[in-house]
Amino acid sequence: MIKVSVIGAGTMGSGIAQIAAVNGHKVCLYDSFDGIIEAAETKLKKILDRLVEKERITQQDNQAILGRINFTKDIKDVSGSGLVIEAIIENLEIKQKVFTEIENIVDEDCIIASNTSSLSIASIASALKKSERVVGIHFFNPAPLMPLVEIIPAVQTSEGTLTKVKTIIDSWKKVTVIAKDTPGFIVNRVARPFYGEALRIYEEGVADFATIDWAMREIGGFRMGPFQLMDYIGNDINYTVTETVFTAFYFDSRYKPSFTQKRMMEAGYLGRKSGRGYYDYSADMPKTIQDRELGKKILWRVLVMLINEAVDALFLNIATKEDIDLAMTKGVNYPKGLLAWADEIGVSNVLKQLENLQAEYAEERYRPSPLLKRMVQENRTFY
Ligand code: NAI
Repeated sequence: MIKVSVIGAGTMGSGIAQIAAVNGHKVCLYDSFDGIIEAAETKLKKILDRLVEKERITQQDNQAILGRINFTKDIKDVSGSGLVIEAIIENLEIKQKVFTEIENIVDEDCIIASNTSSLSIASIASALKKSERVVGIHFFNPAPLMPLVEIIPAVQTSEGTLTKVKTIIDSWKKVTVIAKDTPGFIVNRVARPFYGEALRIYEEGVADFATIDWAMREIGGFRMGPFQLMDYIGNDINYTVTETVFTAFYFDSRYKPSFTQKRMMEAGYLGRKSGRGYYDYSADMPKTIQDRELGKKILWRVLVMLINEAVDALFLNIATKEDIDLAMTKGVNYPKGLLAWADEIGVSNVLKQLENLQAEYAEERYRPSPLLKRMVQENRTFY
């Protein structure tokens, strides 16, 4: 079994190292900053002890898993790896520098991957002499718990690299999908209207946060409402992802960030982690207006926008229809795949609703995907 190295022992890196060690690999977890490696080791020990308490693993497993991990501050320890996964700060120059350093230590056939959420894999790979060995492996937070992993080949990535990486990650019992090297890959692109349209509905005064959340949960079957979820993710992080996707798409107004969320971030109302976001976590939760008519309208508006985004991702060959649906159910727990959902409610109904929105607002954000129009003309379904 190959040795796996993880660069950066923060939130994502520690989780990825845990997964690799649990799956039997010898692991090297490296971080360059003082105190981080020690903190990662202490935290992982706690997590494994809890798994023993819950009888998910035995005490022997615990010892074996820890015994396989080398927590290190010496980058040279990555030598002999078959796979290196980088999960450091989201900065292209720093990532390129670290990739070059790694290439000088590892063997010719070692795959070097990035867990980046927003940088292009092609730009990271361009720093290497042997760029065909670079690929994106995008985990979701918390990595040990979330089943989805997006695998992103860059234009430089070889078929061999892609196949090998998919085999390894599949063997970790993860659900893998292949995504084109485009902003947001699948999940962070297709999910944008879940937040953006909910914010817009609020801004128009259609309903308050709690009512919109109620509609999405109770009528739509989503595990969390958009405002609950933004508070959970953190308004700073969620806003930054939206702004990055918006900029990366050359300011396509469909992805335009919201002032409401920006003000929340500026006020320090980051969500659960700061005790206050759209909700005040020290007070009782606000009451909702449980009006099913209104609830259905809210759900429909957000849902058709999500479906349109998923259809457009398919139209532009970002991924297969199966992978687009899997990504949303396994990466962000949607109750159904969006394309399967479109079939269920009827693609012509989705198109009609989008055309109504576009006619009402005369805004680009509501433009239906050409594929949606084509499907209706040809009377086709996705499955
Ligand atoms: P983090 O801030 O928790 O961890 C980053 C770690 O990298 C820190 O421990 C830091 O000491 C270390 N580091 C920074 N520069 C370094 C260098 N030059 N050499 C070695 N170590 C260095 O960040 P997080 O959230 O774990 O994110 C890491 C990467 O994963 C980013 O590219 C991010 O976009 C991506 N990502 C984050 C997700 C999230 O929900 N937090 C989800 C999926 C991807």
